[in-house]
Amino acid sequence: MSRILIKGGFVIDPGRYNGLGDVLIENGKIAAVGKSVPNAKGNDTAVIDASGKHVFPGFIDLHVHFREPGYEYKETIESGAASAVAGGFTSVCCMPNTNPINDNQAVTEFILDRARAAGTARVFPVGAITKGSEGKELAEIGDLYKAGCVAISDDGRPVMNSNVMRRAMEYARAFDLPVVDHCEDLHLSEGGCLNEGQVSTELGLAGIPRAAEDVMVARNVALAELTGARLHLAHLSTVGSVRTVRDAKARGVKVTAEACPHHFTLTEEAARGYDTHAKMNPPLRTWEDVHAVKEGLRDGTIDAIATDHAPHAVQDKQQDFAAAPFGVVGLETALPLTLALVEEGVLPLEQAIEKLTSAPARAFGLPYGTLAVGAAADVAIVDLQRGWEVDPTKFKSRSRNTPFTGWKMKGQVVVTIVDGRVVFDAQA
Ligand code: DOR
Repeated sequence: MSRILIKGGFVIDPGRYNGLGDVLIENGKIAAVGKSVPNAKGNDTAVIDASGKHVFPGFIDLHVHFREPGYEYKETIESGAASAVAGGFTSVCCMPNTNPINDNQAVTEFILDRARAAGTARVFPVGAITKGSEGKELAEIGDLYKAGCVAISDDGRPVMNSNVMRRAMEYARAFDLPVVDHCEDLHLSEGGCLNEGQVSTELGLAGIPRAAEDVMVARNVALAELTGARLHLAHLSTVGSVRTVRDAKARGVKVTAEACPHHFTLTEEAARGYDTHAKMNPPLRTWEDVHAVKEGLRDGTIDAIATDHAPHAVQDKQQDFAAAPFGVVGLETALPLTLALVEEGVLPLEQAIEKLTSAPARAFGLPYGTLAVGAAADVAIVDLQRGWEVDPTKFKSRSRNTPFTGWKMKGQVVVTIVDGRVVFDAQA
């Protein structure tokens, strides 16, 4: 019997436990959580002193890009999973825009094999909606589901043909698979590389209007209503999309949504100076949008916080703003940026942790993100007070493309446990 006792931390298991306590892990499962869990059965127990620390369920990220197969120089499954656990994430869902695209069982199985070999974070593949993510012919959704995909999405190449999307939703419904959409009307956004507005005009760069997101959010909600499918909307970034999702939820549509730390922390102003680390899709917007995203997180319109961790190599980002790829890494900065919302009074701590744990678990139907007795022992132990400065050369990720270099952060992961095994230890 292997046993770990996490002693004397402040335990928050959203909706279940919020107070000082111990967490006992036996054979990879949560065995007890409580004020004082007796360590009765012999001295073969590893004790982790968590006094002065917080103990949370391991975080779940519904949206990451690990670049294997195809772009291993940016990130491998192993380096991505190491980055995840360094950020407190014990489960991540990886998007299908690899090369080849994850539109078939063989790629899904390959990803799962590599993740098993890495042996750190749990990696859940998201399969493509259409073959080659070309938006034309549906992928073998049933096969993807059987191989282990937890959702389907064409990610940054969203399905433009509404009838194809309708059929995908009908198909996915048969397996109760969430359909994830990166909401972007590719005709409206064509050629754009940052938010359309004051900054794009001043920089002389083509913009992406907020309407490119808003119209697709509205379309997808209408199709979810039509089909009864589970719809999950990725990285909401605009006033309009938050409003549409709020309204859809009020009408009982089965829709969930996520927001990314960069979208609730930064605005388009970060792109001044043509800094390609401020280039991502959807783009950074305005303060009005940032406030709407925060309000959506606060009132439950936005269920989950996800990173859209999108690693790109230095040489990829060292190009003209228009030519550089979209995307920023996020796994190792998501926690302190989320905690900043707590400091600001946007969310109570328990609700912030819920958006990293039980809420994303519910959105994708994953049996994790909880410290319930009998659940897999996935745990993040965090020092909420510890300050640190972002130095991308220290990232476990293979890429360093963050807009937060030099930022002073508060809150650091000290230990991450997956399945009852310590997979990250900041002291080590
Ligand atoms: O910023 C982004 N990066 N948005 C996307 O849609 C794709 C992603 C990537 O794969 O780099």
